[in-house]
Amino acid sequence: PLNSRCKDYLPGVQATDVKGQPVAVDQLLTGAQPGSRIAVKGLADPAIGYLVVTDGPKIAEYAIGTTCTHLGCTVAWKPEQKRFVCPCHGSQYDDQGRVVQGPARRPLGLLTVVVKQNQVRLVSRTPAIDPR
Ligand code: FES
Repeated sequence: PLNSRCKDYLPGVQATDVKGQPVAVDQLLTGAQPGSRIAVKGLADPAIGYLVVTDGPKIAEYAIGTTCTHLGCTVAWKPEQKRFVCPCHGSQYDDQGRVVQGPARRPLGLLTVVVKQNQVRLVSRTPAIDPR
C-alpha cells in the first residue's frame, strides 16, 4: 500500500563521514556538543557539507555547504573561531554561513538534511526555511 511505501521512502543520499563511511545518527550524536559542526559527504556539489548540531543534541534540518561564494574554493570550519574560512582569498563566514569578511558577498549555500531510520540523508535543495 502507498502508506508503507511513503514510510520507507528515503530522500536524497546517505551522508558519509569524510572517509566515505556511512554515518549513523546515534553514533554522531554520542558526545556531540550543541553548536558543533560535523563534516559529511554524499553529494557531488558541494562535496562536503557541515551538519549543524543543535540543543538536544539534534541534527538540524539543514547543512551548510562549503563552496565559497567568491570564486568557489572550499571553505573549512574553524571551531576555535566559530567561522568557516576560505583559504583562497580570506573570506570568512559565521557558524551559519553568513559573510563576516569579504571578498565574498553572499552567504554559503544550504542543503536539506533528512534524519530517518538512523541515517542522515542529504538532499541538494535549499531547505524550505532558511534559518538565517
Ligand atoms: Fe573564497 Fe575567493 S574563493 S575568498
